[in-house]
Amino acid sequence: MLRILAARSEVLVERAAALAAGPVVVATAAVRAGLLLIAQRTRPPALAGRWELPGGRVEPGESEPDAVVRECREELATQVRVTGRLGTDLPIDAGVLRVHTAELASGAPEPQALEHAAVRWAGPDELAEVDWVDADRAVVADLVALLRSG
Ligand code: C5P
Repeated sequence: MLRILAARSEVLVERAAALAAGPVVVATAAVRAGLLLIAQRTRPPALAGRWELPGGRVEPGESEPDAVVRECREELATQVRVTGRLGTDLPIDAGVLRVHTAELASGAPEPQALEHAAVRWAGPDELAEVDWVDADRAVVADLVALLRSG
C-alpha cells in the first residue's frame, strides 16, 4: 500500500514539475550521411533569418516522438523516424525545448521549406558559425558530437 502511494506521489510530482515548466516544444535533430538538417525561421521578426532545429509544440495527448513526426510532415513535407533524445531540457519563453534525434524514413521525400525561409544540410564544422536561435545554440556541442559519432 505504502509503495503504491509513494509511486502515485512520484507521478504527481513529475506532473507538477511538467506543468511548472510549461508547454513542451520538440526540436528535431535529423541526421543523414553525417549532416544535420537545419531550418531558417521567418517569424517572429526578432527571430527571422536565424536558424533552428525544426519542430514545434507538443499537442495535448500527443507523445513527443509523434509531435516530431507531425511537425516534420507539416513543416518539411517529409517523414522522419525518431531515434533518441539529445541534451537536457532547455528553458525557452514558450516553456521547455526538448531535442529528439531522427533520420529520414526510407524513401522519404527531400525536406522542403514549407514554413521556413530555407532548409539545408550542415556539416559538423559549420555548426558553430550558424546564426542559431538562442535555445538551439545551447546544444551545438552535442550536435557536433552526434554528427561525428556517426
Ligand atoms: O516554431 P514555433 O513558433 O511553434 O515554436 C514555439 C517556440 O519554441 C518559439 O518561441 C520558438 O522560438 C521556440 N523554438 C526554439 N527552437 C526550436 C523550435 C522552437 O527555441 N528549434
